[in-house]
Amino acid sequence: MSASLFDPIKLGAIEAPNRIIMAPLTRGRAGPGFVPNELALEYYRQRASAGLIISEATGISQEGLGWPSAPGLWTDAQVEGWKPVTDAVHAAGGRIVAQLWHMGRLVHSVFNDGKQPVSASATKGVAARIRRSPPRPRGSAPAAAR
Ligand SMILES: Cc1cc2nc3c(=O)[nH]c(=O)nc-3n(C[C@H](O)[C@H](O)[C@H](O)COP(=O)(O)O)c2cc1C
Repeated sequence: MSASLFDPIKLGAIEAPNRIIMAPLTRGRAGPGFVPNELALEYYRQRASAGLIISEATGISQEGLGWPSAPGLWTDAQVEGWKPVTDAVHAAGGRIVAQLWHMGRLVHSVFNDGKQPVSASATKGVAARIRRSPPRPRGSAPAAAR
């Protein structure tokens, strides 16, 4: 007999009571310092009945985050901002994991003190322009040190 969406599933260490996995969705609602806030708490708490929530893409460093008001996970304030969010999901009976994000060559230098970001390989990004930012010069991002 085939499983239904409402059957439990084990995903590594996670015992999910159903197979509904919430896809990561960038919201752009974090506060100053890329710190998640009450909006994230309410958003994820409301969705705790999913078998597993995958968080919105979450920056791992200033240099790797190039999205306005996306949350991060590299400062103490960001970690403290996430704790009430994950606590609220757990209190509502849910499970949540973080999607870690480094945007590589696509990070706009405006997020990075004017410096070009590093990338996995020294390849050229698209000529990107983000809202409220100056155009970024075309060029290769330097490859990250290995
Ligand atoms: C507004 C929006 C934000 C998204 N943010 C992320 C994200 O943070 N991380 C990610 O891996 N995918 C992100 N995605 C992709 C979705 O998770 C999903 O894979 C995509 O929408 C394809 O699913 P669909 O065919 O059901 O729409 C985003 C999609 C949308 C529409």
